[in-house]
Amino acid sequence: MNTQFLDGKAMALQIKDEIANEVRSLTAQGHRAPHLAAVIVGNDGASMTYVASKEKSSHEVGFTSSVYRMPETTSEAQLLETIEFLNSDPDIDGFIVQLPLPKQINEQRIIDAISADKDVDGFTPVNVGRMVLGEDCFVPATPMGICTLLKRFGIETAGKHCVVLGRSNIVGTPVANLLSRKGFDCTVTMCHSKTKNLKELCLQADILVVAIGKPEFVTADMVKDGAVVVDVGIHRIPDETKKSGYRIIGDVKHSEVDAKCSWVTPVPGGVGPLTIVSLLQNTLKAYHKREKK
Ligand code: GUN
Repeated sequence: MNTQFLDGKAMALQIKDEIANEVRSLTAQGHRAPHLAAVIVGNDGASMTYVASKEKSSHEVGFTSSVYRMPETTSEAQLLETIEFLNSDPDIDGFIVQLPLPKQINEQRIIDAISADKDVDGFTPVNVGRMVLGEDCFVPATPMGICTLLKRFGIETAGKHCVVLGRSNIVGTPVANLLSRKGFDCTVTMCHSKTKNLKELCLQADILVVAIGKPEFVTADMVKDGAVVVDVGIHRIPDETKKSGYRIIGDVKHSEVDAKCSWVTPVPGGVGPLTIVSLLQNTLKAYHKREKK
């Protein structure tokens, strides 16, 4: 198989360039820059990496960026107060609350408190409802990034059988919805921990989206020749040969799967970079909506 890679890194650079040009033109005309804020509670290593990366990307495209760091012991009431502040701050176009949250905080109650107009993660019930109805909304960043990759690389999706592994609110559920809709027109099968005959289902996939959160779960015997494979997994594995002391692997065993694919997302450098870009795109959209008002 002549495997081609869905290079998210290069595409993210290109889209960031497009956003930066737009922001430059806005500020040159005397408008303010879009402003993205992030809230992080506690010291989870992966969350801190993600938030730092979102901050860096915001600056690269000329956005204003602020990060609200709160201690691990923060109460739900304290976090709700911060959210109220961000909801009503006229300087902020959109914000995210980095997940997961410490166990004393109910995640759904926090998400429910975020104003739908500033919910650039697309996690609130209003945005999820709008997405399912096909209305204008903020689409969650990872599914949006996957859709952008498939669209911009010109991957044929209409009538294809898309198998999604994982049913999380952040990835599996929204991506299954988006790919089944008009414009993508896939026939979607959603698999989860109780699915029977998982391997047989995967072997039927023209497009396999893997968001199961298990390192190298998908092996070559589960993939049809010529399939398009999208790997959403990001896992840090200790590796003494690396300067950082770790390397990143996905939910797919790329060493044996890639050769079977027509297209495959590398890890790192596939879906990940597009996720952050999608958040920037949502923030720009929130900015334009607020400026119109
Ligand atoms: N944790 C893992 N992914 C995400 C994401 O896309 N948004 C937020 N807020 N938290 C996350």
